[in-house]
Amino acid sequence: MNEQQLENARELAKERRAEVGRSQQAVVTAHTQKTKRKKVITDDIILSVDNLHVSFKTYGGNVHAVRGVSFDLRKGETLAIVGESGCGKSVTSNAIMGLIPQPPGRISDGKVMFKDVNLTNMTKKELRKVQGVDISMIFQDPMTALNPTLTIGEQLMEGVLTHTKASKAEAKEKALAMLRLVGIPNPQERLKQYPHQFSGGMRQRIVIAIALICEPELLIADEPTTALDVTIQAQILELFEEIQAKTGVSIVLITHDLGVVAKIADRIAVMYAGKIIELGTKREIFYTPQHPYTQGLLNSVPRLDLIAEELQPIEGTPPDLFAPPKGCAFTARCPFAMEVCEHVHPDTTIKSATHRVDCWLQDKRAQAFLATAQK
Ligand SMILES: Nc1ncnc2c1ncn2[C@@H]1O[C@H](COP(=O)(O)OP(=O)(O)OP(=O)(O)O)[C@@H](O)[C@H]1O
Ligand code: SF4
Ligand SMILES: [Mg+2]
Repeated sequence: MNEQQLENARELAKERRAEVGRSQQAVVTAHTQKTKRKKVITDDIILSVDNLHVSFKTYGGNVHAVRGVSFDLRKGETLAIVGESGCGKSVTSNAIMGLIPQPPGRISDGKVMFKDVNLTNMTKKELRKVQGVDISMIFQDPMTALNPTLTIGEQLMEGVLTHTKASKAEAKEKALAMLRLVGIPNPQERLKQYPHQFSGGMRQRIVIAIALICEPELLIADEPTTALDVTIQAQILELFEEIQAKTGVSIVLITHDLGVVAKIADRIAVMYAGKIIELGTKREIFYTPQHPYTQGLLNSVPRLDLIAEELQPIEGTPPDLFAPPKGCAFTARCPFAMEVCEHVHPDTTIKSATHRVDCWLQDKRAQAFLATAQK
């Protein structure tokens, strides 16, 4: 590879970036116009994940599921984590919540700070005081998240009675208020019913009510709308926005649905093979995506202004996390891959105060690194 070839690859990538950016403008604009948010994002950092590494010991060897993830989240902000299946989204969120089973899992490096508390150093007992109170999590499947043998009222009140000094009557009042907030009609009657007496969309609203009843400062939602049909999904997303505007809760939203992201995220972290390969504001990621993988993801989103356009999957498969590649993990699938990509992992390039990307196309030292790697 010579300087000219590198320059050609950069030019090609630049053209493709512009094309993807233009095609996504309709998507973001359509969603933004619909959303009239009054939420407030402050400068206070609620969550700070620094160089998180998580691996799992299996019969086949060690799976390096999360390989150096770092990001911050501010009060009142929604950060979406997107990426293909198996890229480490759930492992990252479970690690934040202290839900990695150790063994077989191991947090081998890094730390997770919730305000000024280091969650990675906490004992199980200390963590339990934070989980469900200051930090809440919504899991993907609403049916398994609810206990079929307890009424909705009992499940809503449980957290309040366990974690606060509220009386039973006060807990019931709170449960009723939460059911109203999430839009469940006849809350007095509904409180006495069991999960199977609710529809899928209603159950997910109840899961959200349970997650929010202790007024957490941080909500981690792992694919909260995947199991729901599109209309209910839109209602649930609106509910998230309303609740955030009301309570100022910060949200980490995990999804592989870029339509969901376009609707409610403030910033987007794109994960690939256990790393965040690009992070920026919603506009930066949708309009000026820098990483070829992000561009591929955006290309696979059906456009709102075109009818029945087919999804275009990104060709190829992600790398094996038993033996992650030394260089850029996207090399085998990347249309712009250069020799250096395979040998040396790119450093992070800062594109703006809010936008960062790991790709050799952005790094002026590609040539020098290649020379060192070949020696
Ligand atoms: N308990 C475990 N033991 C072994 N490997 C695991 C375990 N949990 C997760 N992994 C591996 O870690 C990697 C990341 O998994 P993770 O569940 O975070 O993916 P994901 O991005 O959430 O995918 P999806 O979109 O399908 O939910 C995968 O390769 C997965 O097989
Ligand atoms: S660093 Fe990765 S994403 Fe960037 S050009 Fe090389 S292979 Fe493609
Ligand atoms: Mg997952």
